[in-house]
Amino acid sequence: MQQAWLEHDVAQCGYCQPGQIMAAADLVRRVSAEGRTLTDADLDTIRNICRCGTYPRIRQAIADGAARMP
Ligand code: FES
Repeated sequence: MQQAWLEHDVAQCGYCQPGQIMAAADLVRRVSAEGRTLTDADLDTIRNICRCGTYPRIRQAIADGAARMP
């Protein structure tokens, strides 16, 4: 997930990013444990706020990171 974050150049100020990455990794693990693939509705459940508005890059990085996580 961290590598996907870097490749998508997600961070702007970076303040929210550790929490965003942890929330993303947890979400992907929970969805995987349920035997499902990640959906837009799943991404909508992440409530971490980014005052810089990096949400489009966050969503892209999560989708990319999810494909790489074991
Ligand atoms: S990158 Fe600045 S608050 Fe999220």
